Amino acid sequence: METLQDFVNAYKNTEKQNDDLWELFKDKVNSTAFLKQHRDDIEQRLAGFGDRSFHFLWYLILQELSTLNREVQCLEIGIFKGQVLSLWALIARELKMPIKISGISPLDGNYPDILIFRNYYLRRILSLIIPSIKKDFNNGNIHIKEDFTKHIQITFEQSNLNLDDIELIKGFSNDSVALSKVQNRKFDLIYIDGDHSYKIAKEDIENYTPLLNNGGFMVLDDSSYFSPGSKFFKGIESCSKAAEEVDLNKFKNVLNIGHNRVYQRL
Ligand SMILES: C[S@@+](CC[C@H](N)C(=O)[O-])C[C@H]1O[C@@H](n2cnc3c(N)ncnc32)[C@H](O)[C@@H]1O
Repeated sequence: METLQDFVNAYKNTEKQNDDLWELFKDKVNSTAFLKQHRDDIEQRLAGFGDRSFHFLWYLILQELSTLNREVQCLEIGIFKGQVLSLWALIARELKMPIKISGISPLDGNYPDILIFRNYYLRRILSLIIPSIKKDFNNGNIHIKEDFTKHIQITFEQSNLNLDDIELIKGFSNDSVALSKVQNRKFDLIYIDGDHSYKIAKEDIENYTPLLNNGGFMVLDDSSYFSPGSKFFKGIESCSKAAEEVDLNKFKNVLNIGHNRVYQRL
């Protein structure tokens, strides 16, 4: 059985390794029925971001955390339609591991549901004209207003999972109300995938990493802009810059899969 540690031990942040691992992890997802089925559903319903390969990364991380032999505490910042929360629940069910899953997200969009924002090319044209839209466009921060709670519910139902088992915290990660709900807790895994601007991505890292247990994992989305690799979308410059500034006295960047960068707290 392959473990996260096997990949971490062999990992070098080179173009060839990053490209090869991204392909290999995609193949692993396609040959693991429950992971494939979950990602197929997400892609069909346009219910999530990121790459297929990430599903295997999450599998390996949770498998590693299952060796703690206690309830594993996981937090996602930026839920969208529940791809990652449901995947974590699914993997935990498969591995028969106790888990507590929490997520912080506005559960709302920030742009009206009209054609000009729905259509990628129209959005792009508009972003060339209006500076605030340009900023959100470049930072991947345009989300159309929809009933996100309903979408998350559907994502859970698709895998016969119970959304009541999940702690959904409605709010912005950089808002003190949301932060206060988790501030006195400790986590084994934190995924930062909310606002991708430099300022907020940096604040998320600063505010939430103190909540990580030693040996716990922080995963940063869209953060490989400055890393070698040619086969995958490398992410967004702004939040990649925040990732480059992670304190390496406290964290080790143990593995990167596509634009997901994995840091372990020392
Ligand atoms: C890229 S999507 C997340 C995708 C999701 N993690 C997945 O893998 O499918 C970003 C999400 O972050 C939310 N968001 C934006 N700003 C946020 C903030 N400050 N705190 C928490 N969530 C935020 C957006 O509403 C959106 O749902």
